[in-house]
Amino acid sequence: MWDNTTLTVSTIYLFPLLSLGNVLSPLQAWYRRGKVNASLGNYEDSVRDLTAAKNFEFSVSGKRQIESELNIISQHHEREDTNLVQQNENDMVVSDVTDQINLLCITTPDKGRGMTSEYDIPQASLIHSEEPYAAIILKHSRESHCHYCFSVLPADAVPCMSCSIPMYCSQNCQLQASGQTYGKCPSNIYINGNHSNNLEEYVMEITSGGDVVDQKLEFIPEHKHECQGVNWPAVLPTDIVLAGRVVMKSMAQKGHFKEIPNILETLGLSQCYSKMPSESKLELHLYSIVLLFCLKFSYCSELLTNEFSISQIIILLSQIRVNSMRIVHMKSSDVFGLQDQFGKLLPSEPALTSSMEQVRVGQAIYKTGCLFNHSCLPNIHAYFLSRTLLIRTTEFVAAGCPLEFSYGPQVGQWDCKDRLKFLQDEYFFQCKCAGCSEVNASDLVINGFCCIDPNCSGVVLNSHAVYCENQKLKISEPSSINPLLQVRMLNDVNVKKVAHLSLGKKNNWFHIKSGYCLECDSYHDLESSIEAANKAWIHIRRLRDSTVSREIDTATISDALRSLGLLRSTLHAYNKGVAEAEDNLAQAFCLLGDLKSAQNHCRASIKILEKLYGPSHIVIGHELVKLSSIEQALDNCSAVDSIKQLRSIFSQYYGSHADAVFPYLKFLNKESCSHT
Ligand SMILES: *[C@@H]1O[C@H](CO)[C@@H](O)[C@H](O)[C@H]1NC(C)=O
Ligand SMILES: *[C@@H]1O[C@H](CO)[C@@H](O)[C@H](O)[C@H]1NC(C)=O
Ligand SMILES: *[C@@H]1O[C@H](CO)[C@@H](O)[C@H](O)[C@H]1NC(C)=O
Ligand SMILES: *[C@@H]1O[C@H](CO)[C@@H](O)[C@H](O)[C@H]1NC(C)=O
Ligand SMILES: *[C@@H]1O[C@H](CO)[C@@H](O)[C@H](O)[C@H]1NC(C)=O
Ligand SMILES: [Zn+2]
Ligand SMILES: [Zn+2]
Ligand SMILES: [Zn+2]
Ligand SMILES: [Zn+2]
Repeated sequence: MWDNTTLTVSTIYLFPLLSLGNVLSPLQAWYRRGKVNASLGNYEDSVRDLTAAKNFEFSVSGKRQIESELNIISQHHEREDTNLVQQNENDMVVSDVTDQINLLCITTPDKGRGMTSEYDIPQASLIHSEEPYAAIILKHSRESHCHYCFSVLPADAVPCMSCSIPMYCSQNCQLQASGQTYGKCPSNIYINGNHSNNLEEYVMEITSGGDVVDQKLEFIPEHKHECQGVNWPAVLPTDIVLAGRVVMKSMAQKGHFKEIPNILETLGLSQCYSKMPSESKLELHLYSIVLLFCLKFSYCSELLTNEFSISQIIILLSQIRVNSMRIVHMKSSDVFGLQDQFGKLLPSEPALTSSMEQVRVGQAIYKTGCLFNHSCLPNIHAYFLSRTLLIRTTEFVAAGCPLEFSYGPQVGQWDCKDRLKFLQDEYFFQCKCAGCSEVNASDLVINGFCCIDPNCSGVVLNSHAVYCENQKLKISEPSSINPLLQVRMLNDVNVKKVAHLSLGKKNNWFHIKSGYCLECDSYHDLESSIEAANKAWIHIRRLRDSTVSREIDTATISDALRSLGLLRSTLHAYNKGVAEAEDNLAQAFCLLGDLKSAQNHCRASIKILEKLYGPSHIVIGHELVKLSSIEQALDNCSAVDSIKQLRSIFSQYYGSHADAVFPYLKFLNKESCSHT
């Protein structure tokens, strides 16, 4: 049923997508629209929306809160203006202009269901934006983040008025989550108040698009059914509680609470139940019954607890496992301890930190978002502002090409074997992406050993890697090797260097044996090398632990330096372990105040990661944040280049949202070199 479904998505039509399925009270609707517009950088609209919301708000405290948000947004607005100027100066291409992208859902025999576009899409285009069908906070974030919008809780957080278990960042989030009233029937919302003509016009203009907002759909507060005395939502696993929210919402949409609607029809999620191991199936059966009874006894007493209901919930639970997305927010952290040292030196930048960390805050179902399939070499990037899913192309994507993001593993992060295992275990499919079916330099060197000949840059593989690479060669039959691929590989200096390509010999153009150099065929005794590397790792780990506890002595650091030398003489120059060891040393030297050494180790680590991920991957952007903060502290002019490079990477992945997602970037904007 999903074949050839056309979804018209553009920024202009964002609003209907965001509010699909809900009728909000006017206050909620304007407030939410204002927040969404703000998060998307449409500050002018946002200010008008929030002004409208303020007119519907009767309480003084509510009005005050909206006013304070208006203030914040106006400030953002000003900052955004200056940023735009800056970006023009830096000559960066930020394209948020998605005139109209026709996303198509297609099914191919090879890769199953996936999304593609009717037209060519330029790099860094926003191709999709969506509010969740259902969302829930993860357990470890319950104390620290708003249970509705997932932002960090302020000191004066608002608890649920009924059960006081969930915490919200504001009254508005609380209202969105649990609704205005606590009766069972959705209350009729009436409009009251007095507006200036101007505002009234604006309201008319937005609400008159009849097909845009379907007034008959109900506003369904996601937490309301969880409130009635019993604490089951706090006790059951997150995905079970999320299933409860999906069930309640789908019943509310149908308008009756007796029978669970056909979940397959309602959501159209992809299936996986039959592929699950039997112990997981048993678990789903148990949880399905538990959830059904929780819903029945705490909220809708008329709910039928028959076999059909139970099986519907089982299907839903299995679907949530493979179709839900983790909502991640960014958190700045000071891995290098630079704040301690330079907080005093740079008083004008008190928020200086050295790194960004992804924090998983929520789990959600996005009805369109889950139609995108996975690739270990993704061409789109998904990120979140509050609860909103946003998807952006990270490269030019030609019409008809599959649009795929990563479900977790990527080339450069893990080797092929680990990626395939993860995707099989978590998502029940055998990955057939380009990264897993074509030989790639990154997969060869990521866990590779070096050749015993110090003059040879060839790689030696262990038996697991050899198995995977030989599988790839089987998949791409020698006679049908894509000439395009050959060209790409020849242009790729890395593959050419680390592995000998005899393109003439069609049947065995790539000679792979475990323990032998792929370039010169010399034998390398891997067993003793593995043993030596393991010993070296003991010292590196010890260094990492003492960096965490901030007590580094000279013996630890000299042991670690010796171990790094050993790793470098055993592992391939682009082995990911070497990059990690270098990074650990960089952190330790930062802590010791030896920034020159820190800078060198940080650069060495980035050099390897650039080979593994490619030079413009977002991982490199994050590493450059670390490097540039060291360079800035050293007043080294290369900081200017690092910052330029990282800003271009961030804008490729986050477009105009880069500064909203990474407030830290604005500290890197300044001229940071006093020598020029
Ligand atoms: C995604 O692609 C893989 C092949 O790479 C395929 O096995 C899987 O079924 C696809 N997923 C969906 C939901 O169709
Ligand atoms: C609405 O505003 C008008 C003036 O703009 C005022 O005369 C009237 O009393 C107001 N009505 C209410 C209900 O506040
Ligand atoms: C490596 O190359 C250098 C010069 O390029 C040469 O002097 C040296 O003998 C070579 N070493 C080996 C082991 O071949
Ligand atoms: C190999 O992986 C790198 C880094 O992820 C990527 O940029 C490159 O396009 C890949 N090469 C091939 C031939 O797939
Ligand atoms: C900056 O660091 C690089 C690498 O360590 C070094 O070669 C260069 O001379 C430094 N520049 C300045 C101005 O210190
Ligand atoms: Zn909130
Ligand atoms: Zn509650
Ligand atoms: Zn893959
Ligand atoms: Zn060799």
